[in-house]
Amino acid sequence: MKRGKTAVIVGAQWGDEGKGKIVDVLSHNFSVVARYAGGHNAGHTVIIKGKKFVLQLVPCGVLRKGCRSVIGNGVVLDPLAFLKEVKMLREAGVQVDGNLFVSNRAHVILPYHRMIEMGAENAPGRVKIGTTSRGIGPAYEDKMGRRGLRVADLLDSKLLKSTIENACREKNMIAHALFNSDPLDPDSMYDEYARAAEQIAPFVADTAVLLNQALAEGKSVMFEGAQATMLDIDHGTYPFVTSSSCTSGGAATGTGVAPNAIQNVIGITKAYCTRVGGGPFPSEVQGEVADLLRARGNEYGAVTGRSRRCGWVDLPLLRYAQMINGVNWWVVTKLDVLDVLDEVPVCVGYKINGKKYDSIPALATGFEQVECVYEKLPGWKKSTEGAESFDDLPKKAQEYLRFLERESGAKIGMVSTGPERDQTMLLPEFAAEVLEPTEKSQSEKSSTEKSSAQKGSSEKSSAKKPASQKGAKAK
Ligand code: IMP
Repeated sequence: MKRGKTAVIVGAQWGDEGKGKIVDVLSHNFSVVARYAGGHNAGHTVIIKGKKFVLQLVPCGVLRKGCRSVIGNGVVLDPLAFLKEVKMLREAGVQVDGNLFVSNRAHVILPYHRMIEMGAENAPGRVKIGTTSRGIGPAYEDKMGRRGLRVADLLDSKLLKSTIENACREKNMIAHALFNSDPLDPDSMYDEYARAAEQIAPFVADTAVLLNQALAEGKSVMFEGAQATMLDIDHGTYPFVTSSSCTSGGAATGTGVAPNAIQNVIGITKAYCTRVGGGPFPSEVQGEVADLLRARGNEYGAVTGRSRRCGWVDLPLLRYAQMINGVNWWVVTKLDVLDVLDEVPVCVGYKINGKKYDSIPALATGFEQVECVYEKLPGWKKSTEGAESFDDLPKKAQEYLRFLERESGAKIGMVSTGPERDQTMLLPEFAAEVLEPTEKSQSEKSSTEKSSAQKGSSEKSSAKKPASQKGAKAK
């Protein structure tokens, strides 16, 4: 049997590129969506018919009927945050039971991870990263230090008890000595997490087996990235990064699907750029223009509510993201935010001390010396909202997108001009290469064909379009 199609969705900037919405739109054509990194530091916003969902741990595929969702082994799972999200989804009528799976090898975030993180972030002499305070970094530290607690261990009450007791003894001493933190009580922690474990147990599976079986059965799998390239622990603006492998390579280690099973890498970039938290951001702007981008783009963190720093597309970074991830398709989001501008600056290169500089600095301080070279493209001063196809976009908006494409090493496959599912256009080549044929679109196509044949209808039903072209405008 032919193996199913695969694609990784990866952020090309510092996160918040709109991955949630894109995963939601594309989930129509994938059988399974798997998260591979990060934890509930992510905030993936999806708006369906005016109803807003903010998902932090559960892959956005859960919102699409018939699409299975997997939380892979590369994710760090906060059991209480997970259960809260499951409750929210159940209350919204979303099917989670039997449809959502959690890796037995994912590591667990416990309260002492948050305690250590809060202490470290505020300690004198430490670099303040501006984290989301969710305990993500300390949980990954314990994983790499081989003293973490995995989901399989969470379900083993003896192991859970001894791990919590030992960890609390150690972490309480460290946190008290270093940060003067109040100690955590291991007994009440055990009670709370043992109760949570019972509720999580039905979701737990060997998800590497599940995903590989799905692929072997010809099902398609999308890997949902969280955070982004420039927040990757290895390739991002260290130390102002998150603690996981957010780049496309993480999709393999973070799910147990082999690298040679991954066919497409879809990089998501905003039509401008934002960053939340501290760290380098060469093309950042301040003042009125930043306020305009923030207001039009609603640039406030989905998880923490923090206001996002705003700036222009940075081509050296986009080219770097293309190289690190092997991006073969771009999705450009939030194009409509730029609709009112007279001109749109793009950072086309870096200079240090007046000299052209081609690499991405490894040192955060190296970025401080970087001066962006800008090219100003003419604005289009027309609404792009609701544009049905690439050709419907104002000419100057098309030129802007073609410029980004030429300069960044990959083709544009999708453009998003608003938060709703149908404010998305898919370019035909992308739809054909990445999305077709899927098992779902094929069976939907043949059942529609059958039913219109039964009706004896000669009309060309819109449902006869490939599934890749429904729910989004593929022209
Ligand atoms: P942590 O992931 O909470 O450790 O935070 C590390 C850095 O990554 C901080 O600058 C956060 O603001 C940033 N970060 C983490 N998750 C996201 C995200 O989903 N979107 C944007 N920035 C994020």
